[in-house]
Amino acid sequence: MKKFSIVIAGGGSTFTPGIVMMMLDNIDRFPIRTLKLYDNDGERQAILGEALEILLKEQAPDIDFSYTTDPETAFTDVDFCMAHIRVGKYAMREQDEKIPLNHGVVGQETCGPGGIAYGMRSIGGMMEIIDYMEKYSPDCWMLNYSNPAAIVAEACRVMRPNAKVLNICDMPVGTLRRMSQIIDKEPKDLEVRYFGLNHFGWWTSVKDKEGHEYLPQIREYVAENGYLTKVEVDTQHMDQSWQETHKKAKDLLAVNPRYLPNTYLKYYLFPDYEVNHSSCTYSRANEVMDGREKTVFTAAKKIVEKGTAENSGFTIDSHASFIVDLARAIAFNTHERMLMIVENNGAIANFDDDAMVEVPCIVGSDGPEPLAQGKIPAFEKALMHQQVTVEKLVVEAYITGSYQTLWQALTLSKIIPSAEVAKNVLDDLIVANKGFWPELS
Ligand code: NAD
Ligand code: G6P
Ligand code: MN
Repeated sequence: MKKFSIVIAGGGSTFTPGIVMMMLDNIDRFPIRTLKLYDNDGERQAILGEALEILLKEQAPDIDFSYTTDPETAFTDVDFCMAHIRVGKYAMREQDEKIPLNHGVVGQETCGPGGIAYGMRSIGGMMEIIDYMEKYSPDCWMLNYSNPAAIVAEACRVMRPNAKVLNICDMPVGTLRRMSQIIDKEPKDLEVRYFGLNHFGWWTSVKDKEGHEYLPQIREYVAENGYLTKVEVDTQHMDQSWQETHKKAKDLLAVNPRYLPNTYLKYYLFPDYEVNHSSCTYSRANEVMDGREKTVFTAAKKIVEKGTAENSGFTIDSHASFIVDLARAIAFNTHERMLMIVENNGAIANFDDDAMVEVPCIVGSDGPEPLAQGKIPAFEKALMHQQVTVEKLVVEAYITGSYQTLWQALTLSKIIPSAEVAKNVLDDLIVANKGFWPELS
């Protein structure tokens, strides 16, 4: 079998060790000859890089491993770029969450004003790494899960329409695993139908390979418990705040019992509840810095100190194995069925062609082929249209440097109550994002 050369962009990410371990766990399905980490923060990346160097020497000495901040070294001779960058890191995520909260508005990584602020930072960083990839390895594919994926995907559509970038999110994968537990099945035995935008969609069908429909049975469970199932399933999505999120799906379902909701809809449908249950001084960014970031970086330092990765604190992120499924789909033309963020072009029959939507696709060597999801009802369509317009306005504001356009984007966001609040939040975000956003006028 062919062996592949991979670069992980955002090598200093808290997810890097788990994804590397997951790739080692899948090495028979997806052989690797070269693995490189790339980050623009050399110091942060080196902590994980040094530890992974030790781990790979012990567990996979045949893989040529390195880490670098030099784009040419990183992007030369690679087949796949796995991208998970966070422009501005957790310090800026904290601002994205706390600035809106100080105005009584939801502060969230990817939704509402926080997501808009993050999007304005991410676009530049993403275009930069896409350009490196195209310059040094024109045949390379980027598997991108950097957030906010909806805005990043729209920016790719407009600014780099021919780039080989696949935008994907792990939330539907994670939620399907929970659904499979509810009905005592394995996710691989299930096929779904789904429509929406990234972090903004609905399952319309969950069937086994024989065609039995489980949606009513899952709905009954979710109406009582939300998606909260066994507590040990995955660590990232089991922190206290995530447990609350899974539970809240119960209320989302009550509003719209027709379909099974994506958990992120809670920020749009219950923003007041969310604000009342958030803290302006300790947000999700703090929870992550005190939790995942500490755990991962402490484990890395221990490996370096001891000179061995034996009994290390790095754990396999098996949840992320969909990334290998996606790479294999491209590399081996497997025609895997996966939810991807793609240009609509009729997949949702009564929705704009040029909207970036999240729908099931068949993925082969030429990329994703979206599966037709038919017409969608008025309620979901109107919500989606409002949200996708916000995402388009953000990209337009980034390109044109227009204050007015970004103010309109915030004003249109369902999460923000008025144009006045939108302006107040925006003005604070501009100050906090100095040096990250283009100058607006
Ligand atoms: P993190 O801050 O730990 O890691 C991000 C890394 O990116 C940092 O080391 C940072 O220095 C680096 N970086 C920032 N700008 C860069 C640039 N221009 N070029 C190269 N490197 C750059 O963040 P994390 O919590 O581990 O998350 C990483 C990313 O993955 C985030 O965008 C997050 O939202 C995303 N994510 C997405 C999904 C999904 O389903 N789509 C799931 C989990 C995480
Ligand atoms: C889910 C979403 C990601 C998001 C992540 C946040 O996995 O699909 O897009 O980045 O949650 O998780 P965190 O643990 O960083 O709050
Ligand atoms: Mn996501």
